[in-house]
Amino acid sequence: MEKITVSLGERSYDIIIEAGGIARLGAFLGGLRLGAKCAIITDPRVKDLCGPLVTNSLADAGLRVDVVTFPEGEENKTLATVERLYHEMLSLGLDRKSFVVALGGGLVGDVAGFAAATYMRGIRFVQVPTTLLAQVDASVGGKVGVNLPEGKNLVGSFHQPSLVLIDPDVLRTLDGRDLKAGFAEVIKYGIIRDADFFSFLEENWEAILSLEPSAVEKAIAISCRIKAAVVAEDEREESGLRAILNFGHTVAHAIEALSDYRTYRHGEAVAIGMAVAAEISERLGHLPKGDADRIESLLKSVGLPVTFSGLDIGQLVSRMRFDKKAVRDKIRFVLAKKVGEVFLTDDVPLDTLSQVLRKRSER
Ligand SMILES: NC(=O)c1ccc[n+]([C@@H]2O[C@H](COP(=O)([O-])OP(=O)(O)OC[C@H]3O[C@@H](n4cnc5c(N)ncnc54)[C@H](O)[C@@H]3O)[C@@H](O)[C@H]2O)c1
Repeated sequence: MEKITVSLGERSYDIIIEAGGIARLGAFLGGLRLGAKCAIITDPRVKDLCGPLVTNSLADAGLRVDVVTFPEGEENKTLATVERLYHEMLSLGLDRKSFVVALGGGLVGDVAGFAAATYMRGIRFVQVPTTLLAQVDASVGGKVGVNLPEGKNLVGSFHQPSLVLIDPDVLRTLDGRDLKAGFAEVIKYGIIRDADFFSFLEENWEAILSLEPSAVEKAIAISCRIKAAVVAEDEREESGLRAILNFGHTVAHAIEALSDYRTYRHGEAVAIGMAVAAEISERLGHLPKGDADRIESLLKSVGLPVTFSGLDIGQLVSRMRFDKKAVRDKIRFVLAKKVGEVFLTDDVPLDTLSQVLRKRSER
C-alpha cells in the first residue's frame, strides 16, 4: 500500500494506492468521521464491474449504502444529470451528514463530485477512480463540474474529496484505448516536473501498459505525488503553478471542442497537444531538439496520436483565443524548457502556432 497526503490544511486528505483496495473501501473510511449513510454514484458499466465489491465493503463497515447511476458519455456531463442526481439523493434520504462515493472514470468523478459540492450546500465525498486518467489526474485536486453547450467544464467548483482510493487492479477491464489515453497524462507529469520519471516511462511503458503491478503502481504513485504537490502549492490555480498541469491542454481543449468530444479521448487530444507544445517550444528556442524528439517518440511508442485530421486550423486557433483560460484574448500556453521543466507564457506568435498545427494536420 502507498499513501500520499495532499496537504491542504483542514482540507488535507490521503490518496491510498492498493491493489485489491476497492474491496476494503469501508475499512479505509474508518477514522474519517463520514456519516452513516452514503450514495455510490457511478455509471452502469462500472456498477456491473465494481459495484458489488464496493457496496459489500461499505455495508460490512456498517454503512447504509445505495447505488445511483447515470449514463456514460461526455454528453451526459450536464446540469440536467446533476439535477436528476439531487432528486435521487433526496428520495434516498441523504442529508447534510451523508456522503457520496464517486466510483468511475473522470466523468463520474466530476459529476458526482459536483453533485456533492452543491447538494445541501455541500456534503463530503470520496473518490474511487477506475480509469487510469482518473487515477492519475481527475480524482486528485478537487476540480469538479459539468459542461455547458458553450464549452467544457464551464460550471464547477473546487471541492476536495475526503479520500482518494486507487485500486490498480480495476484497470484490467479497461479498454486498451482508454488505458493509453490515461497514459498521456502520466507522460505529462514526467515532462512538467520529473525528468527521471520520464526516463522511467521510456524504459517501462510496455510493462505499464501490460499492467505489470510494480510498474503500474509506481507510475500511478509518482503521478499522484506530482499532482498532489502542485495542488498543495496552488489549490485554486491562483499563483499560476497549477496551470503547468495544463501542458498540452490548450490545444487539446480546442481539438476536443471542434470534434464535438467524439473523435478523440481527452488523453489522446492531450497527446496531440503535448506534441504541438513541444514543437512550438523547440521552434521558439526554448527546448532542445533532442528533448522534443524524446517527447514525440515516447508518445508514438505508446500508440498515442501526435497528428490530427478533419479540423480547420483557423477555427482551432480562434477556439484557443476564447478558451476560459485565455487572458485578454492572449492564448495561454505551457511550454517546455527541457524534459522535467515547463513554464507559462502568453507569448506564442499566432503564426508559429498555425504553422505547427498545419504541419500536424493530416488531410
Ligand atoms: N477534474 C479534473 O481535474 C479532471 C482532469 C482530467 C479529466 N477530467 C474529466 O474526466 C473525463 C474523462 O474521464 P475518463 O477518461 O476517465 O473517461 P470516462 O469517465 O468517460 O470513462 C471512459 C469509459 O470507461 C468506462 N470505465 C471506467 N472504469 C472502467 C473499468 N475499470 N473497466 C472498464 N471500463 C471502465 C466508463 O464506463 C466509460 O465508458 C472528462 O469529462 C474530463 O473533463 C477531469
